Amino acid sequence: MPTPHISAQPGDIAETVLMPGDPYRAKWAAETYLEDIKLVNEVRGMFGFTGTYKGNRVTIHGSGMGMPSISIYANELITEYGAKTLIRIGSCGAMQHHIKVRDVIIAMTATTMGTTPSAGFFKEINYAPCADYGLLEAAVAAARQKDTGVHVGNIYSSDVFYAERPDLDEVMIRHGILGVEMEAAELYTVAARHGVRALGVMTVSDHLLTHEALPSDQRERSFGDMVEIALEAAFA
Ligand code: ADE
Repeated sequence: MPTPHISAQPGDIAETVLMPGDPYRAKWAAETYLEDIKLVNEVRGMFGFTGTYKGNRVTIHGSGMGMPSISIYANELITEYGAKTLIRIGSCGAMQHHIKVRDVIIAMTATTMGTTPSAGFFKEINYAPCADYGLLEAAVAAARQKDTGVHVGNIYSSDVFYAERPDLDEVMIRHGILGVEMEAAELYTVAARHGVRALGVMTVSDHLLTHEALPSDQRERSFGDMVEIALEAAFA
């Protein structure tokens, strides 16, 4: 501490960390929802801010895109800075007709073919990365207070945004996968390995079946809903 990727000093990081993929979203969320914020990291432009929400200390730190990137930050935040609750807030693509753009998906578990979560040591085990149940329950309760549709279930953490295998999407859809994003499976795996809590709360930004996308004027409001759900769940 500091680490190769985080320049925060001892004590700078709160036990609760919200992790949007985009560092500028971290900045926006900290400025919008937290009080007494302090910039605690900007190595490689990956902003981390610590402040308070309703008197509770919280850090909002970018994760970058994809499982290798969130893996670096989650590992260092947990092992070097003592993070105990990590909540991914981000976007995902919907994979079921009953899910609409702007709805929120809360990932109970995250399926993946990506190599980052397995990293060799699971060998023949098909490990099922899983959310912390207490956080999940609290997030569902917080989401139900809003006028947004909320869906809870299995998502797909992909290694690629521009996928070349439509047959894979078809299998996922037939097996009830709600949506696709690129980070949750590794976050859940790292959190489990270190005995800490993790959850992924994602807004649907695009739809793989209808090809709809969230209009840019609604992105901020949807992102704000997610931040509020994550903060309420963290301190429930
Ligand atoms: N994040 C948001 N939309 C996505 C998609 N369609 N695929 C992967 N990650 C996403």
